[in-house]
Amino acid sequence: MKISPSFLALSEEIISLESSKIGRLMEIDRLIVGPLRTNCYILSEGRDCIVIDPGGDHDIIIGHLQKKNLTPTKILATHGHFDHILSVSAIKLKFDIPFFVSKKDEPIIEGFRKFVKTYFGMDPGDPPVPDKDINNEDIFRIGSKSLKAVENPGHTPGSHSFMVDNAMFSGDFVFNGSIGRTDFGGSYSEMSNSIRSLKKLEGDVNIYPGHGEFTTLEDEKNNNPFFKEIF
Ligand SMILES: [Fe+2]
Repeated sequence: MKISPSFLALSEEIISLESSKIGRLMEIDRLIVGPLRTNCYILSEGRDCIVIDPGGDHDIIIGHLQKKNLTPTKILATHGHFDHILSVSAIKLKFDIPFFVSKKDEPIIEGFRKFVKTYFGMDPGDPPVPDKDINNEDIFRIGSKSLKAVENPGHTPGSHSFMVDNAMFSGDFVFNGSIGRTDFGGSYSEMSNSIRSLKKLEGDVNIYPGHGEFTTLEDEKNNNPFFKEIF
């Protein structure tokens, strides 16, 4: 599907911010950014923060960080699709911080420029350069909190979610009422295994997806047609 530049121009204006808290101290800000309305999450405790999936509108993201006087320590991508990494280079340059993404998605990242030119008729410049790999169970500190990477391939070979307390930042693995597509470098059988792995999670989990509205694991187990088919 070819998406016209006018869609791009329109979507750049659709940016919203919501904040919620985990525990007493940690804040989650969501900025909806870029041509595919990606949920970019900024997790902070005090001034310490991590940026997840900066998928466009770098000026908005940087402006938000500055307004809240936050100091980002790293950029994490749930996966390598362009709409989750469009603003990585600008944010890296501004704050001189490393970009973490799974090495398994590097072939997808290398195709970034051609893909955006083909489907969006714009040149995003060179793809961002990954600094560090992400592997299953890697831990990232935010103040007193630990954010854990959980490997869940399927949407792409290197897809990861990030978990802290009962919050899961799922990227394009699980959406409210749906799952990520598997035809842009992914695998449906791997996706099925990743969905099944959610069975072992205990308690209810709040899911913050890469696009669309928030949900819970309980809601998805009960209502998501893909879960019903795969579980
Ligand atoms: Fe994606």
